[in-house]
Amino acid sequence: MKSISVLGIYAADLVFFGEKIPITGETILGTNHMIGPGGKGSNQAVAIAKAGGNVNFISKIGNDQYGKMAKELYSESGVNIANLTISEEYSTGVAGIMVNKKTGENAINVVPGAAGKITKNDIDKASQTIKESGIFLTQLEAPLDVVEYAIEIASSNNIDVILNPAPATKIQDKIFPLINYFTPNETEAAFYAGHKVETKEDAARASSKLLEKGIKNVIVTLGEKGAYFANKKEDFFIPAFALGNKVIDTTGAGDGFVGGLAVALTEGKNMKDAIKFANALAGLSTTKFGTAQSMPKRLEIDNFNA
Ligand code: RIB
Repeated sequence: MKSISVLGIYAADLVFFGEKIPITGETILGTNHMIGPGGKGSNQAVAIAKAGGNVNFISKIGNDQYGKMAKELYSESGVNIANLTISEEYSTGVAGIMVNKKTGENAINVVPGAAGKITKNDIDKASQTIKESGIFLTQLEAPLDVVEYAIEIASSNNIDVILNPAPATKIQDKIFPLINYFTPNETEAAFYAGHKVETKEDAARASSKLLEKGIKNVIVTLGEKGAYFANKKEDFFIPAFALGNKVIDTTGAGDGFVGGLAVALTEGKNMKDAIKFANALAGLSTTKFGTAQSMPKRLEIDNFNA
């Protein structure tokens, strides 16, 4: 099976649980906190490895305690790190995450640290890995010029590109036609389409606009509702798995979805089955605390998705 290259950031997640997410100017007394491995790219790479994919993670971490946590995670989960640079100059990234204990919803502030210093030269060093992959997957947490550069390298070598546009950021128009799969959530889809995206109908409208920009396939994730798919030939909606009050932390569910999608496509699943597999992985991740640590193993996904 072809490998998957993931470019993105690793950050240590400092997570605070409480009865609500505080609003501006408000202080609340939380209930508990945890520190765990995070960063969208890293979470996606871990999701892929645990789901049985062969994954290479391209990133940068610091030579510190949080960086050590990353290396332990990759060794346990089987993520290949030949293209992970250890910086002596910059510290490992961190994210402050507030989680509403009742609903599992979150708010995140991420400081990429060393991963914010990934350069085009780092991509050149990883270019052979990218060229040998079946899929190149990235997000918008690493420096934008570097992300766009890597997408151009992957696309010019006929490698399928998945862009998870998180956090939503303006990208150059010339990049859209190089994207095979674009996976925004509601907020991100709204950013690119210029209108609110809450329902299937909104997702359909947003997808048409995105397809016009030259993207080949659009998948809008709608949280606990499911995911809407569209390309120039077909469109459909795949509902999420109903998990009710088993949902305790939705942080990283989007990463689980994208990781699952990459694995399923690499295995040659058709689009509907690939999205169902991604929904199963994402759904299971919401039943555990944390991000990378909440990603399920392949057996759990297959049992749940049977
Ligand atoms: O998608 C969740 C992730 O976003 C967290 O792990 C946090 O580190 C931020 O990158």
